[in-house]
Amino acid sequence: MSALLRASCVLLLGLLWSSSSSSCRDRVRVRIPPHDQVARVARFVAHQVDWASMATVSTHEPVVGRPFSNVFSVSDGPVEPSGTGLLESSGTGVPYMYLTRMEISVQDLQVNPEASLSMSLAQTDFCRLQGFDPQSPLCAHIILTGSVLEVKGLEAEFAKKSLFSRHPEMMEWPSDHNWFFCKFNITQVWVLDYFGGVKTVSPEDYFLASLHRKHH
Ligand SMILES: *[C@@H]1O[C@H](CO)[C@@H](O)[C@H](O)[C@H]1NC(C)=O
Repeated sequence: MSALLRASCVLLLGLLWSSSSSSCRDRVRVRIPPHDQVARVARFVAHQVDWASMATVSTHEPVVGRPFSNVFSVSDGPVEPSGTGLLESSGTGVPYMYLTRMEISVQDLQVNPEASLSMSLAQTDFCRLQGFDPQSPLCAHIILTGSVLEVKGLEAEFAKKSLFSRHPEMMEWPSDHNWFFCKFNITQVWVLDYFGGVKTVSPEDYFLASLHRKHH
């Protein structure tokens, strides 16, 4: 590598570093809702994360009938392309997924669509910056229970916009895998955001919660 090229690489890295660290500083102003506003905390976590662990009841030997947890990209609404840190936008609260029947967990869902999704602020910079261990309830995390349903028409269009804006690579996924759009149909929300044990939120309260404090 020539000295000139090396120098310009160092300069470029320096610029990238300073632009990403200033966007981090800006994003710290995005605050998690107060821990007693449990439905808002749940909506906040569900919007901030780009992926979730989904547990299904396995249909595969040698763990037929046993819990099986796997990683899926999710999105509950479109986002503006942004740097690292917490998002300022709000979502719908409905986790959308892009799935193929070739996938091991999706094969479980075809037999039994019931599943649970775990999402944690440990998946953002939040817990590390605050010094919260992922298992600490202060590192807010939620478990959604319900089932996975295919969506069509306008809702599939919305799912596509939500997912592809966060996961642009999806546009390139092989078309012969017959991808389709799904939503996670929530029947109960379980929230760990403070000491004292898990709290539950009904889907009604979860969807009514507004993500951001009203501006005065
Ligand atoms: C979807 O979730 C709602 C609760 O939010 C529940 O009443 C309904 O039965 C679920 N639908 C399916 C098909 O699981």
